[in-house]
Amino acid sequence: MDDGALLEAARDVLASNDVGGWTKPASHQYPHQWNWDSALIAIGLSWFDPDRAQAEVRSLLRGQWSDGMVPHIIYAPRSAGYFPPAEFWQTQGNRAVPAGVRTSGITQPPILATAVRAIHQRAPDAGFLREVYPSLLAWHRWLFRERDPAGEGLACIVHPWESGMDNSVCWVGVLAAMDPIDVPPYRRGDTIHVGPDQRPTDTEYDRYVYLADLLRKAEYDQTTVLASSPFLVEDVLFNAILQRANEDLRALAAELGEPTEEVEGWLVRTKDAFRRKLWDEDRGLFLDYDVRSRRSIQENSVGTFAPLYAGLAGESEARRLVGEHLLNPAEYAPEGGSRYFVPTASKESPHWDGRRYWRGPVWVNGNWLVIRGLQRYGYPELAAQIRSQTLELVATAGFREHFDPGNGEGCGASNFSWSAALVIDLLMSPG
Ligand code: DGY
Repeated sequence: MDDGALLEAARDVLASNDVGGWTKPASHQYPHQWNWDSALIAIGLSWFDPDRAQAEVRSLLRGQWSDGMVPHIIYAPRSAGYFPPAEFWQTQGNRAVPAGVRTSGITQPPILATAVRAIHQRAPDAGFLREVYPSLLAWHRWLFRERDPAGEGLACIVHPWESGMDNSVCWVGVLAAMDPIDVPPYRRGDTIHVGPDQRPTDTEYDRYVYLADLLRKAEYDQTTVLASSPFLVEDVLFNAILQRANEDLRALAAELGEPTEEVEGWLVRTKDAFRRKLWDEDRGLFLDYDVRSRRSIQENSVGTFAPLYAGLAGESEARRLVGEHLLNPAEYAPEGGSRYFVPTASKESPHWDGRRYWRGPVWVNGNWLVIRGLQRYGYPELAAQIRSQTLELVATAGFREHFDPGNGEGCGASNFSWSAALVIDLLMSPG
């Protein structure tokens, strides 16, 4: 398929998942609006329909809680089959929840400010900026106030679903150390349309439900949650995305003539914390930190490259990430039995599984983050190689949710919206 046909096909996927003002990630598997999905979708839409991209952002912000939190799911009014359903979260009656909108009670990687800047760059609209800027600022303030009360510059996540990479190798040890008691009864819906071998296990789902139940019991009071949640992590990917979003928020503030000092303070603190706390000099990797057990999580996942996308790595750290890890065939680079960049986890991980969701498959958003990071740090040839492999995967296997790095076979949901949106971005902006 040539680039023109691929672009058309990507636009068709977004159109087919458009439910009027917002976009489903995939038609059967994910029938609601997801937070980071919509932000990535808006980046794709910004290239050919900035009004529709603005609508995607507005629609997501309908679900913003009055304390600033932007939830990970905004539920469609009449859509059944997905677990957990809206009522599972027991957020009704919580005073922070907006009236007339049903949402989850947790958040997701904050890419939205980056999407808003992308939309504004392609179709400058000061009115739109002025409208959404306070909501973006309120969300970032919530992250630093409620999830980083000590002011370290790193926001904690309290559930694997908040990481976006639900069953990452990074969470294996943390979840195994948990003893989920009184798990409320539930029935999974995610293995109806996608094979169980490509989804998290029942053992993991028990822990997801257990953790969500603890959040419900705490009535989403973040002080209680931070004091008690057995899952409390400073995640490299989440915080790198936040850092990049803060760079974009600062640019938007400057354009609006708003003060930038607060955002600049966050940028400085986060940069310092990445070097001080998340960089592992022995291994040459950025690693997540388990706040509950006060230990670095020694798992090597694609998140380790996200600091490149956010400008958080020094030159020598970047060299080590690329030279020792990304280009290492035992970890991330193609070699005999594994043809494609960039698996979600190092192939050396004992938990690696090339077809199971975030345990190994190649994701378009993971590759996109790596490509943008390599371009930022002056590795244009490697970025171009990963870009062309990403386009080849999609052109051959379709706009699948993720791909087996061994043979490129498509896995998970079909016609997956962010695979389409980011292919549009890669085609329109090769770098
Ligand atoms: C899912 O259902 O797999 C989602 O990632 C949860 O947000």
